[in-house]
Amino acid sequence: MEVTVKAGGIDKESVDAMVLMLYEGDAAPQGAAAMIDKALDGAVTALRQEGEFTGKPKQQSILHTQGRLKAKKVLLIGLGKPTQLTLEGLRQAAGSAVHYARGLGASTLAAPLEGAEQAPIGLSETAQAVAEGMVLALYRFDKFKTEENDRRDVTSVTLIANNREQAKVVQQGAEVGRILGESANFARSLINHPSNEMTPTILAEQAHQMAKDCHLKCEVLDRKDIEKLGMGLLLGVAQGSEEPPKFIILEHRGGKRGQGNLVFVGKGITFDSGGISIKPADGMERMKYDMSGGAAVMGALRATALLKVPQNVMGLIPATENLPSGKATKPGDVHRAMNGKTAEIINTDAEGRLILGDALAYAARYKPVACVDLATLTGACVVALGHEAIGMMGNAQGEELMDRLRQAGIRTGERVWQLPLWDEYLEHVKSDVADVKNVGMGRAAGTIAGAAFLVKFVDGYPWVHLDIAGTAWADREQPYKPKGGTGVGVRLLTQMVLDWNAQQ
Ligand code: BES
Ligand code: MN
Ligand code: ZN
Repeated sequence: MEVTVKAGGIDKESVDAMVLMLYEGDAAPQGAAAMIDKALDGAVTALRQEGEFTGKPKQQSILHTQGRLKAKKVLLIGLGKPTQLTLEGLRQAAGSAVHYARGLGASTLAAPLEGAEQAPIGLSETAQAVAEGMVLALYRFDKFKTEENDRRDVTSVTLIANNREQAKVVQQGAEVGRILGESANFARSLINHPSNEMTPTILAEQAHQMAKDCHLKCEVLDRKDIEKLGMGLLLGVAQGSEEPPKFIILEHRGGKRGQGNLVFVGKGITFDSGGISIKPADGMERMKYDMSGGAAVMGALRATALLKVPQNVMGLIPATENLPSGKATKPGDVHRAMNGKTAEIINTDAEGRLILGDALAYAARYKPVACVDLATLTGACVVALGHEAIGMMGNAQGEELMDRLRQAGIRTGERVWQLPLWDEYLEHVKSDVADVKNVGMGRAAGTIAGAAFLVKFVDGYPWVHLDIAGTAWADREQPYKPKGGTGVGVRLLTQMVLDWNAQQ
């Protein structure tokens, strides 16, 4: 979808539909709403007076202009009370507006965008949230549907600012929103591809192509390189599969010389069968989403590069399948990580922490000033937080980083919730035969046990682990989240980088 910005001319836009987002309340329409109301002989006011449309969140109404405006229809969307408006509310309203428009067969849209004095949100942020919500809401994955395909789509939206000065502000915000939305959609597509079409090799090719398009540096280590580095944990997981593992490295060197490195690490299990400790068949097809952390890292690097953020940001994605075979790792096996630490494999289904262990050891070479890993790591995280929050844990040096992620989480709607990682939890992953074992104490603190394993591979740098098992996949459709991969983490990480940059 194309997003353009214009100054003025609401009455002159010949589009299929004009989107009018309105607050709840009795105030007489102002600005763009007043103009449209007047052109339609008070139809907006009439709808309000009859209580048909009050501006409550999620409310929608339609007016046909019948030639009284250049736009064919006006779609009214409720925003709720101005003082209670949040960025999330705006994204949802904008998302439901384009969804509604698409259902009506409208392909060209325009939307007046003006700051509201009573609202706690500035014009640039408003424009960002609206563009972001629209781009995210229009995403669909229909590549493999050859029948009954609804090809109707919204192709363009023109945001109309009050004047030239405001148009500049709207333009800047909308550009950020579009890039963030499209980068999340990019991640969603990687996730939604079935594992036969998204092997570690294909994921690496996708990284290469994206890097070329966005002017990022990309290097892919193959099995030989991985062996040379001594990444025994990644190799141990990969040995059950015919598909070779890949270790994807993306680099955005936007910062000045000597500026610190921000490092993102993403779990890239393109299919998780559980291995020899095989999972039950019911719902196993979902496990193509086990590379959602890796997809988020790829999406965040894409956004960071396109936004030309003047910071050094690195992305590391260990990628492999986790399958059973005559060559697969067996419970009780011991493997040696790149940093020399040994791990006893109690359950081959706890494979994410193994490949991340090697990646976190590799990350040390960047001397990160901040390192964040994202992984669909534990079913226990879904039990603890459901689908509403990302589980967050970190080391002592990572405290400040956790504050930053909390802030970015509120702003983006990709909220994090911290769980403790006290020393006592390290006891849970003590092994009788190796330095560490890959499961904790039965069902107790399963999510924390994952982080307790990972901390063994973090060498002194600020580190935060995000468990996205509950948030990376949507089972039901939400305002700007279609069913399937959500692309969670892309906007969160990018926002964190933008804030980091602003505070330096
Ligand atoms: N990819 C899964 C995590 C997962 C499971 C996400 C179910 C969403 C739903 C991960 O590799 C895994 O299998 N974790 C195990 C760990 C256990 C064996 C210690 C789990 O959570 O059951
Ligand atoms: Mn697993
Ligand atoms: Zn997994």
